[in-house]
Amino acid sequence: MNFLLTEEQDMMRKMVRDFAEKEIAPFVPQMEQGEFPREVLRKMGGLGLMGIPIPEEYGGAGMDFTSYILAIHELSRVSAAIGVILAVHTSVGTNPILYFGTEEQKCKYVPKLAAGEMLGAFALTEPGAGSDAGSLKTKAVRNGDHYVVNGSKVFITNGGEADTYILFASTNPSMGTKGISAFIVEKGTTGLVIGKDEHKMGLHGSRTVQLTFEDMRVPAENLLGAEGQGFKIAMSNLDVGRIGIGAQALGIAEAALHDANEYAKTRYQFGKPINTQQGIAFKLADMATGVEASRLLVYRAASLRQQGLPCGKEASMAKLFASQTAMHVAIEAIQVLGGYGYTKDYAVERFFRDAKVCEIYEGTSEIQRIVISKQL
Ligand code: CAA
Repeated sequence: MNFLLTEEQDMMRKMVRDFAEKEIAPFVPQMEQGEFPREVLRKMGGLGLMGIPIPEEYGGAGMDFTSYILAIHELSRVSAAIGVILAVHTSVGTNPILYFGTEEQKCKYVPKLAAGEMLGAFALTEPGAGSDAGSLKTKAVRNGDHYVVNGSKVFITNGGEADTYILFASTNPSMGTKGISAFIVEKGTTGLVIGKDEHKMGLHGSRTVQLTFEDMRVPAENLLGAEGQGFKIAMSNLDVGRIGIGAQALGIAEAALHDANEYAKTRYQFGKPINTQQGIAFKLADMATGVEASRLLVYRAASLRQQGLPCGKEASMAKLFASQTAMHVAIEAIQVLGGYGYTKDYAVERFFRDAKVCEIYEGTSEIQRIVISKQL
């Protein structure tokens, strides 16, 4: 097995790290105040980062899947909020159109999404349908040349900012998951109501909203795939999306480890740096081992995906392990920094707040275990 990056991938990694440190890091305090990073996303669009794995014929950078994962990883070291905005935009906001759209749909939406001229979102979760996504209640009823949609969604990442939503609604409730269909819904569609902004523990620069559909009229030509194909569209895109969340968690864990290690080198107690004292040194060793194991799982899943091989189980393993590691490493980083780690003067408290959601969204850790165990 080759664990080295290609020259092109390494250039991508360096470019994104440089961009994140120069252009994103200074904006983190504003994002922490809840400001959405429009300008940062515009610059990312200019660099081709909003459509990394999208083929050039559809306006993307035409790069491999591993390069996309590298970008989420590197961006998340600086801002996990930017990491999730990009992950949702690409994996579940753009890819469903690329993989399941008609040629007209692909030509209409994908180039603008890939260029960052449009932002994508994914609307699956409902107040009563989170882990049990197949029990969603939003209904879409065909009426001539359009569908009439009624219902609501919650926890929609990029909601309120997005130009397109991949919406899942039941067109045939008696058929269960086989009655779910997917639609492309444009911002400004009559009947699409942007609801409450969630005040989250972390990821403050990423917007998360509720959506309500009040007799929302979606043109029939915006049906994505066939009627009844929606659940499979959601699940297959989540399979891949979960590698991105694994990469996001890896970025957070790496940043927390870095800050803890740097601090421990210069913090003297009992006459010597704390990184030379076993209580802290062993902690750092365990944190580093967890980060390395996460890296291998995330990049192995990415490599399978890139080769077009089945990767659902490996994606869930990567997401499960990397998000648990991010949480653990962030908690330990706070412990290494002691009282300072508990203040907002240091970033480790932000890493802790940002890490937690990686164990929740795109399928909780418990859901990942269901997906993995079903495939054993
Ligand atoms: N790919 C393709 N098809 C799939 C699939 C996959 N990965 N997983 C299931 N299916 C198909 C099955 O084959 C089955 O079809 P057939 O009957 O034709 O075989 C159908 O879907 C139903 O499958 P199940 O009976 O296994 O479905 P289930 O109702 O038991 O649910 C689940 C399975 C894995 C628990 C699923 O509900 C799930 O993933 N839940 C978590 C939801 C989730 O991840 N939500 C994330 C929201 S998006 C988000 O968080 C974005 C963000 O903001 C960051």
